[in-house]
Amino acid sequence: MSTPSLLILPGDGIGPEVMAEVRRIIDWYGDKRGLAFEVSEDLVGGAAYDAHGTPLHDDTMAKAQEVDAVLLGAVGGPKYDDLDFSVKPERGLLRLRKEMDLFANLRPAQCFDALADFSSLKRDVVAGLDIMIVRELTSGIYFGEPRGIHTEGNERVGVNTQRYTESEIERVARSAFELARRRGNKVCSMEKANVMESGILWREVVQEVHDKDYADVELSHMYADAGAMQLCRWPKQFDVIVTDNLFGDLLSDAAAMLTGSLGMLPSASLGAPMENGRPKALYEPVHGSAPDIAGQGKANPIACILSFAMALRYSFDAGDEADRLEQAVEKVLADGLRTADLIGEEGRSPVSTAEMGSAVLAALDSSLA
Ligand code: IPM
Ligand code: MG
Repeated sequence: MSTPSLLILPGDGIGPEVMAEVRRIIDWYGDKRGLAFEVSEDLVGGAAYDAHGTPLHDDTMAKAQEVDAVLLGAVGGPKYDDLDFSVKPERGLLRLRKEMDLFANLRPAQCFDALADFSSLKRDVVAGLDIMIVRELTSGIYFGEPRGIHTEGNERVGVNTQRYTESEIERVARSAFELARRRGNKVCSMEKANVMESGILWREVVQEVHDKDYADVELSHMYADAGAMQLCRWPKQFDVIVTDNLFGDLLSDAAAMLTGSLGMLPSASLGAPMENGRPKALYEPVHGSAPDIAGQGKANPIACILSFAMALRYSFDAGDEADRLEQAVEKVLADGLRTADLIGEEGRSPVSTAEMGSAVLAALDSSLA
């Protein structure tokens, strides 16, 4: 096979600085593991708006469609708050998701043992936590029509539409069941079938897909509000959670916080297989652009590094190398290294973004010894 290609879109805020550490790790895999990538870099979000007047240039969109995987940092920042909705940085990301048809968004929430005391929940509630939220990413209320703000009589009305087709529900349900088979073999599907027709259909289709092709996987259904409560009460009851775009947005932020820091969590957004058999794919940290600390060397690069680990696993069939990278991160945390976001009451002094990157590289080196 030819050298796999990666398009890197650092974006805004802390995106560029955390991505710089990932580039060092990509180089390490080329040098030390014979896993070379053809890497190109481009602009997205506010950075693209500043250069081109659009949060995603058509050329960048075309490139994203051609490469084997896209790695994205973060988009957005207060500088862009007053921009017209259609050119806001977030639109660049949403366009990538939609046009690449990345319907399955995998958001793992894993609690590293070294950080269990850092969660706002008690240690025994979160220690060893390992759940995967599969969020539908290309439909639902994020994209449904009609949408907009119009005038009725003497007041304005804001409209968005929750809309799901059977095939949209079916394909994301399949992704969740497939993943569950490789993990704890359990799926909990979350919607609001008690108040929304789209939720009734969601529940029916997930159950049908299960009964037809995945009867070996344990399936349960929960209303999304109860699901949020259960996530905070006893998250270890879950293995894979499958849910729609908006509920998935909320539930994955909540799940992320269980692990102690949003700065730790990666994500993969996957679509249908391309001609070469690899899925269309975009990998990004769950944290945002964190404009308050951007450019200061304080950001935690781990979520972005772990996003590259997901790329190794889901795009490049290199699960062993993904394990190696995840173990390197675990070792660094166990050794006590902390970026500023991971400093609690214990009064350690934080390491910088680049120091954290160097420590992960050193741990990778020692994994070869
Ligand atoms: C996320 C973010 C995005 C979303 C924003 C940046 C558009 O919150 O990836 O969770 O709402 O999907
Ligand atoms: Mg979100």
